Amino acid sequence: MIIRPMLRQVRELVAEALQPGGLAIDATVGKGSDTLFLAERAGESGRVIGFDVQEAALEKARARLAEAGVAERVELMLVSHAAMQNAVPADWHGRVRAVTFNLGYLPGGDPAVVTEAESTLAALDAGLELLAPDGVMTVMLYAGHEQGKAETQAVLRWAEEVELERAHVLLYRFLNQRNDPPVLVALEKRR
Ligand SMILES: C[S@@+](CC[C@H](N)C(=O)[O-])C[C@H]1O[C@@H](n2cnc3c(N)ncnc32)[C@H](O)[C@@H]1O
Repeated sequence: MIIRPMLRQVRELVAEALQPGGLAIDATVGKGSDTLFLAERAGESGRVIGFDVQEAALEKARARLAEAGVAERVELMLVSHAAMQNAVPADWHGRVRAVTFNLGYLPGGDPAVVTEAESTLAALDAGLELLAPDGVMTVMLYAGHEQGKAETQAVLRWAEEVELERAHVLLYRFLNQRNDPPVLVALEKRR
């Protein structure tokens, strides 16, 4: 599966930033695979908040987290990630160790529910604000579907404009794939 090396990269970056007891946010829960990873890394004393706008997806994620025995440390919100700034408790601000985005639509979910540039950019601003120094934000982007092209361009422009003093911003991309392979943007907060 083409996406595996990218996901591995996401997990390595997150694993380094998020230690037991840490706070984390999954901005696009879907069926919960990133949420589960964050919850495992955060450990029993850590906390994770997850956002999605598809109730059916959140139900699947909820079951998966319960099965893994980590549901108590996760709060799932049926809220757009664009509202992240206000939805996250005030005492989380500046203390979040990892924020993950996996944009686009949910395979096997409602194909009409897809992330959109405007709300994504609002959520990225919020995520960067919420991060602790040395915290990490990862953004998986898929330009292979129509909406994804515009969203990918918008996110790359946004990422290029993040001030150097604020975060290190990296782009991971394949050099030898056909069509429009996924790309990964990763930010490490500086201050
Ligand atoms: C590629 S999927 C995420 C897959 C997920 N990481 C998993 O493990 O299944 C993208 C998700 O973003 C959700 N989404 C779309 N617009 C959103 C929004 N404004 N706020 C939060 N989630 C949104 C979709 O419902 C979908 O579940």
